[in-house]
Amino acid sequence: MRNKIRKILCVVLCVGLIAGMTTGCSGTKQASGGKKIIRVALSQSETHPEYTGMEKFKEYVEEKLGDKYEVQIYPNELLGSQTKAIELTQTGAIDFVVVGTPNLEIFADVYEVFSMPYLFTSQKAYYAAMNDSDYMENVYESTDETGLRVVTWFDVGTRNFYAKKPINTPDDLKGLKMRVQQSPASVKMANAFGAAASPMSFGEVYTAIQQGVIDGAENNELALTDNKHGEVAKYYSYTMHQMIPDVLIANLKFLNGLSEEERQVFYDAAEVASETERDAWTTEVEKAKKTAEEDMGVTFIYPDISLFKEKVSNVQNEMLDANPDIRDLYDHIQLYNKQYADTKEEK
Ligand code: GCU
Repeated sequence: MRNKIRKILCVVLCVGLIAGMTTGCSGTKQASGGKKIIRVALSQSETHPEYTGMEKFKEYVEEKLGDKYEVQIYPNELLGSQTKAIELTQTGAIDFVVVGTPNLEIFADVYEVFSMPYLFTSQKAYYAAMNDSDYMENVYESTDETGLRVVTWFDVGTRNFYAKKPINTPDDLKGLKMRVQQSPASVKMANAFGAAASPMSFGEVYTAIQQGVIDGAENNELALTDNKHGEVAKYYSYTMHQMIPDVLIANLKFLNGLSEEERQVFYDAAEVASETERDAWTTEVEKAKKTAEEDMGVTFIYPDISLFKEKVSNVQNEMLDANPDIRDLYDHIQLYNKQYADTKEEK
C-alpha cells in the first residue's frame, strides 16, 4: 500500500517536473514569489539523519540567499528510485539528489571501489579517506562529463545481511536470494558470498521480502526501522561487509551557473548537512537497534566475521584486475587502512 501511494505520487510529481522542463522552464527556474526552487531528492524518510542534515542545508541556503532561492526536499523516493532521481538530476529537473555510490558506478567506474567487500579496515580509516577532500575532489569530478558533480558525503554505517532466517556462517547464505543495490559490483559481492544476488531499488525491498520474492537484503540498521524491513526480516547478522557512503550530487550546470559567492554558500550548506548527519548517525543506529529488538522482535547476530572475510578474500583483487581505473583510489585508501588498522572500535 505504502509503495502504491509512493508510486502514484512519484508519477504525478515526475510528470509535473518533466512538463515544466518541456515547456521551457528548467527545474531551478520555476519561480515562487520570484524565487528559484531548488529541488532535493532523497530516498530516506523524514526521520532519517540525512533528512535532518538536508533540513540544515535548506536553512543555511535560505538564511544566506533566501531572497533568491527556496529549497524543497522530497523524501521517501517521492521523485523516483535513486536511479530515476539521478536521471532527473542530470536533466536539471532536480538540482540535488542523495544516493549511495553504487548508483554512480555506471557513470564513473571509480565508484566500484566502495562496493568492494571489507574495503576499509576501520571506521577511522573510512572517515579519514572520505574526509581527505583534496583527493576526493578528483573522484567527485569524475562524473562531470555526465552533468553530475558530487559535493559531499554522508556516513550510512556498515552494511550487514538480514533475512527471514538466521545467518551465522557463509554457508547460511548459500542460495539465498538477497537484494543488493543496482550495481555490477554489488552483484559480484553478494554472489561471492554464495548468495543469489537480486538487484532492485531500495523502495521495492519491503514488499519483495514480504512476498517471498527474496529471502533478505543487506543494509544498515536504519533499514529495519525507518523502512520497516524489520517487520518482514527478523534476523540481522553483523557481517559488516561494506561501508558504502551516500553522496550529495548536484546538477553541474546549476553549480556552474552560480556566482562564486553563491556556489560557496551551497558548498558550505552541504558541509553543514553532512556534519549534522554524521553527528546524528551513531545515536540513530542505537535507537534503531533498540526499536528493532524490542518492538519488532528482530534478533541481532554477531557471527565470526573472519569466515565471511575469507569467503570473499579474492574479490578485491579480481575487481582490481578487471578494472585498472579503480587502482589509484584503492591504493590511496590503503594508506588510511594502514594508519588506522584496528577494527575493534566500531563493533
Ligand atoms: C542505504 C543508503 C541508501 C541506499 C540504500 C540501498 O539506505 O543510505 O542510499 O539506497 O541503502 O540499499 O539501496
